[in-house]
Amino acid sequence: MINSQLIGTGSCIPDFVLTNAMLEQMVDTSDEWIVQRTGVRERRIAKNTHTWELALGAAQEALADAGIPADELDLILVSTCTPDNNTPNTASILQDKLSARQIGALDINNACTGFISATDVADSYIKSGKAKTVLVVAAETLHRIIDYTDRSTCILFGDGAAAAVYRATDREGIGIQSTFIAADGAGADYLHMQALPIEDPFASDRPVDPKARFLKMQGAAVVRFTARAVPLAIDTALQRAGVAAEEIDWVVPHQANLRILDVIAKRYHLPREKVYVNMEYFGNTSSASVPICLDEMRKKGLLCEGQTIVCTGFGAGLTYGAFVLKL
Ligand code: COA
Repeated sequence: MINSQLIGTGSCIPDFVLTNAMLEQMVDTSDEWIVQRTGVRERRIAKNTHTWELALGAAQEALADAGIPADELDLILVSTCTPDNNTPNTASILQDKLSARQIGALDINNACTGFISATDVADSYIKSGKAKTVLVVAAETLHRIIDYTDRSTCILFGDGAAAAVYRATDREGIGIQSTFIAADGAGADYLHMQALPIEDPFASDRPVDPKARFLKMQGAAVVRFTARAVPLAIDTALQRAGVAAEEIDWVVPHQANLRILDVIAKRYHLPREKVYVNMEYFGNTSSASVPICLDEMRKKGLLCEGQTIVCTGFGAGLTYGAFVLKL
């Protein structure tokens, strides 16, 4: 049996810090309201930076941590919902910047579930023998789709990138033990951002809506969805892995709101400290949030051999998923 072992992580966090106090100057809100309702105190903004630049920084760090050169990669997957171009994809740009071989390079647009989905694809390639070593990068420049006059969204989101390197191993009980991903497209309007407008190309005045590219969110509906979807994703991944809730050392959830983290801790009878949280400092970085956590945990020395980790993501689509990883 071949498994996908996590052999390296890396991240690229922008320097610019957007605090709640700064947001108080921009929209009608308060630090107290934001902290109470979301748990976020500050977030990073990658001003004048391409998504591929963040992806490259994270990828280079992950490859260095894994101790392998880019030419050992067999596949590059980039998760982003904020690419620099509709085409070419970010993964192809990264293949060139890393001087990797001419291997498969795919973008995965699965919003905040993207890192989970990309890991699912990486694991499938590795288990089938099609790839031995896969780079998964999640990179987001969400400020480009945020309306900084909309107080219900601008307080939540931040920029960042992180990466993971997975490699085939035949050691039993190591690596990705199970994955689960799903979508419920009926909730597409709850979190929505237009890519290209539908229009009559021959009309004399092609209307331009300057706000069309911004993310629109129905926050309460998203909270209701996460309360249902996240336990379903975790339960399914645990069951597929044959892992009991008591065996979990860490849950690493998408950093969307503190309330869902409390739901997870209660449901699996976990002490709150076992649900990893860093949203105070980064906000919601969409698909980058789970790997940013993993990388931060590694750097803090919180990850040790033998641990069982459950990662879960959820977001626009609506999409949701989880995987179980043994270190
Ligand atoms: N500051 C102050 N007041 C705000 C505000 C802000 N930043 N944002 C919204 N409000 C106001 C609303 O206008 C509303 O006022 P009203 O009652 O006068 O109309 C009031 O707060 C309550 O709004 P509501 O949307 O019901 O608040 P909420 O308790 O649901 O919290 C979110 C809003 C966005 C924090 C919450 O819905 C949430 O966390 N949603 C999930 C978001 C998420 O996870 N998205 C990404 C998924 S990947």
